[in-house]
Amino acid sequence: MSAKEELIRPTINRIVPYSPGKSSAEVMRELGITEVTKLASNENPLGPSPAAIEAMQRAASEVFVYPDPLCVDLTDKLAEMLDVDPEGILIGRGSDEIIHMMGLAFVNPGESVVYSAPPFALYPITTRLMDAEEIATPHKDFYHDLPAMLAAVTDNTKIMFISNPYNPTGTILTADEIAELMERLPEHVIVAFDEAYFEYVDAPDFPDTLEYVRQGRNCIVLRTFSKIYALAGLRIGYGIAPPQLARPLKQVREPFNVAGIAQVAALASLDDPDQVRRTVENNQKGRNYLYEQFDALGLSYVPTQANFIFVDVGMDSQECFDQLMRRGVTVRTGDIFGFPTFIRVTIGTPEQNARFIAALTDILQ
Ligand SMILES: Cc1ncc(COP(=O)(O)O)c(C=O)c1O
Repeated sequence: MSAKEELIRPTINRIVPYSPGKSSAEVMRELGITEVTKLASNENPLGPSPAAIEAMQRAASEVFVYPDPLCVDLTDKLAEMLDVDPEGILIGRGSDEIIHMMGLAFVNPGESVVYSAPPFALYPITTRLMDAEEIATPHKDFYHDLPAMLAAVTDNTKIMFISNPYNPTGTILTADEIAELMERLPEHVIVAFDEAYFEYVDAPDFPDTLEYVRQGRNCIVLRTFSKIYALAGLRIGYGIAPPQLARPLKQVREPFNVAGIAQVAALASLDDPDQVRRTVENNQKGRNYLYEQFDALGLSYVPTQANFIFVDVGMDSQECFDQLMRRGVTVRTGDIFGFPTFIRVTIGTPEQNARFIAALTDILQ
């Protein structure tokens, strides 16, 4: 071991940094093309609400002052909309930051964190950061295997992360399944309901997890402005928990963690219900179009409740990625999730979807 390595906490060597995939700029540079259809990161291709853009423009001249560290206006607005105690709301630099804060505030070294494999990248990163034990329970046919996750809980387990809808497959857990989990889960485990995509869900049996927060259960609901509100580049998300659980998260929060521009954009977005309606409509149309096209190509896919589809392209996913990229389209490869013949494609605009299908058809023929 070299002297420098001795300086590093051993657990840090277990962290595999988050890999965002190739950026559009990189792809354009490499291939000498001027346009890339990026369907790799589950962003909202319609862009933010015009009201949010206007609010950001107004706020641009104010960036010389530090932002409101408590995000009071946004917190109050969310509390009113969601009918929860404002003391239980925490705004973060994306829900990513709140996952990170959960690690800092709750997880002692050696405790365990339970989640489904493949996980959202931040769960293992946070677990390893805290020198905790990961218990990654294999998915069952693209769904969380809740009985197995429950069976994996020990006296030492601190957090269970549940991505609902599940990234990368797009499946959901129903209200009944979550109710059973909440009945059986020991009190010492904090459940994180990671609902980054919940606005896209059109299943009537999706759980109302805020009800568990209102009941004061040991849980936190994680949501984001990155997806439906198309503010991924601003980094703003939020958590909703019983106040006693939100308090320690606020104690580990960096001062001024959320930019003022992000706060006003989020606030304006909440006042524009049209943003949600347009996005959901585009997503449903795009989803149906992609299903039809996959059916015509004879490809099987996982029916989705989110803004992406996990599809089996029947070929090496890296090879498929490379060939799509050469045609100006980027997606996520399934190999990183343990599915070497799958890709995860974000549902785009009608034009983007058509471009993707044309490229895929060309490759498969
Ligand atoms: C399941 C899940 N959770 C959380 C996030 C983080 O979202 P953000 O940090 O942009 O709020 C994402 C982003 O892709 C996600 O897919």
